[in-house]
Amino acid sequence: MSIHTKKVAKKVTLTTISKMKGVEPITMITAYDALFAKLFDGNVDMILVGDSLNMSFLGKDDTLSATMDQMIYHTQAVCNGASLPLIVLDMPFGSYTTPQKAVENATRAYQETNAQAVKIEGGKERAHIVKALSENSIAVLGHIGLMPQFVRADGGYRVRGKDKTDIASLVEDAKALEAAGAFAIVVEGVKSEAAEAITSAINIPTIGIGAGLECDGQVLVWSDMFGFFEAFKPKFVKEYCSGAKLIRENLEKYTSEVKSREFPSKEYTY
Ligand code: KIV
Repeated sequence: MSIHTKKVAKKVTLTTISKMKGVEPITMITAYDALFAKLFDGNVDMILVGDSLNMSFLGKDDTLSATMDQMIYHTQAVCNGASLPLIVLDMPFGSYTTPQKAVENATRAYQETNAQAVKIEGGKERAHIVKALSENSIAVLGHIGLMPQFVRADGGYRVRGKDKTDIASLVEDAKALEAAGAFAIVVEGVKSEAAEAITSAINIPTIGIGAGLECDGQVLVWSDMFGFFEAFKPKFVKEYCSGAKLIRENLEKYTSEVKSREFPSKEYTY
C-alpha cells in the first residue's frame, strides 16, 4: 500500500502530528456524529468537531450561535464513533473571551468528552488565551487567516494574505501562537504565498483550508466535500461526490415504491 492510500493503524497523538511536519501531509476532516466518525475512523489523521455544525447541522447562517453544550454533545458522539484519529473540539464563539473562561470551558471539554485538543480562532491577540490553556495542560489547535467567528465583525468572508503587510501580520500571528504553546495551526482562506510563508516560519504543522498546497496538511468540512451542503460552495471546496443528489434520487425511488405499494415486498416482510 502506498503512502498515499495508507490507513491509520494506531491512535494518533499530538506527538504523531508534530512529527508529520515536513514528512507526510496531515489529513483532517470535520465530523459531527458517530455514524460518520466511524466511516472516517482509520482513514484520516485528525477529526475536527467544527462549530461549522451550527450551519450544516442546525441550519444557521453562521457559526456564532454555537454553544459549549452543543460542541460537547457532538464531540461525545464523534468520540463514540472514532477511536484512531486525533479528535479536536472547536471552542464556540464567546467561550474563550478571557483566559479564565477559556480554561473553565476547555476543562469541561476535556472532562466531558475524549477530545485530545481544543481549537480556538485568533492570532497574536489570542496568544494569551492559548498560553493559559497550554499552562493548564490543554492542547490547542490555533486558527488564523479567515476566521468564521469574526465574520460579522469583519463584515463578511475575506481572503487574507494578499499583500506583504498582511502576510507579515499572519506570520506574526502564527509565531505568537507557536510561542504560546499551540501544537498546530489551521490556516484558512489565505493566498498560497501567505500559507507558504507561515508554514516555513514555524516549527509546528499548519493545516490549510483554502490555503493551497504549501501547508503541512489539509482540512475540509465533510458536508461540503461530499456534496451535502448546497447553500453555497467556496472556491476551495472540491466535491468528491454528489451526496445531496444521491440522497434525493434514492429518496424519490423510496417514495415512489411506497406510493405504488412495491415496498415492502415479501423480502422485507416478516
Ligand atoms: O468549524 C469548522 O468546521 C472549522 C473548519 C472550517 C476548519 O473551523
